[in-house]
Amino acid sequence: MNFLDRNEFNFEPSQKVKDAIREFDPKDLCFYTRIYDQGKKSVISVRVSELYGVPEEQVLLAYGGEDILKNSIHYFLMKGENKKILIPEFSWWYYNRVASECDGVFEMYPLHEKEDTFAYDVDEIIEYTNRVHPRMLLLASPNNPTGNSLSSEEIGRIMESIPNDTMVLVDEAYASFITSDVDYIAPLVNKYANLIISRTLSKFYGLPGLRCGFGFIGKGHDQFLSYVNKYLGYNRFSEAVALAALDSDEHYRKVAEQMDWGRQLYKKELGGLEGFKVYKSVANFILIKYPIAIKEPLQKALAAQDYKIKFMGDPGLESCLRITLGRPEQTQVVCDTIKQVFLNSQP
Ligand SMILES: Cc1ncc(COP(=O)(O)O)c(C=O)c1O
Repeated sequence: MNFLDRNEFNFEPSQKVKDAIREFDPKDLCFYTRIYDQGKKSVISVRVSELYGVPEEQVLLAYGGEDILKNSIHYFLMKGENKKILIPEFSWWYYNRVASECDGVFEMYPLHEKEDTFAYDVDEIIEYTNRVHPRMLLLASPNNPTGNSLSSEEIGRIMESIPNDTMVLVDEAYASFITSDVDYIAPLVNKYANLIISRTLSKFYGLPGLRCGFGFIGKGHDQFLSYVNKYLGYNRFSEAVALAALDSDEHYRKVAEQMDWGRQLYKKELGGLEGFKVYKSVANFILIKYPIAIKEPLQKALAAQDYKIKFMGDPGLESCLRITLGRPEQTQVVCDTIKQVFLNSQP
């Protein structure tokens, strides 16, 4: 089966990742980490701290970006009276689920459809946040499923203009596919105590099965850190693999280039067809509006070739497909199939 429905990784892990797995000494699992003796959480938080220039104590480690999301929403919404959380309108369905788990009261702020993209309206987000005064504001950059992002200036402008007791979580799970710039993170978390930026090894580094996420938080959250940090350390096998992945940017950058080839192909082949719209994407997936009349034949044609893509069901996006950018030959099959099913549907 070709899984292009959950934004996973259809390429090879880097050689360094494969070597790290092969060379891992099982005896390392017989002991907890000793890095605590040096006042650090993990070899990963130390490495991430070096790579991103953020002090190690402000680095968060977790069981995927999911875990950072869950820990922070649960913690901040369960403490105190204010249980309001603002979430982008078209976004990962799981945000609402996690907020509901802790009786969060969520509201959605809009995303606006433009010529070839969905876009945040930064002024509107600022106005909305000041009016509602939520305990948390969630921003996703790039956003899933729309694929649009916020610039570091826009994140800074939002942080500057909203109440400082609103915790802001920027979910950057899909960052890195277009740019390797991370220099904006340290100044932001240095300046704003109420900011969390969350990242993961599941997307750019292609290891969703490893369950390894990391993030950064502003200063002065000792209680939250004591809540999320693991006293007995982290999974030592995952740590070894994650270190190798973080050291393999060159490999994953080449993969990202192949994904870009896929973006261009969808745009070229489908962008001009009646009833289609190929949205701009800076993530490892692409959102495409299609004539919903071909939904059933398209589902059948893809299933017959063992392909899965995501047929969106969210209100407002029912006529959209979200397709993970896979290997070039996979992209070619999906693109040809969509085109063929559409042409067959024409009178
Ligand atoms: C927007 C978004 N954030 C975070 C995640 C979490 O990924 P993980 O827990 O694998 O790091 C996902 C997974 O698909 C996602 O779509």
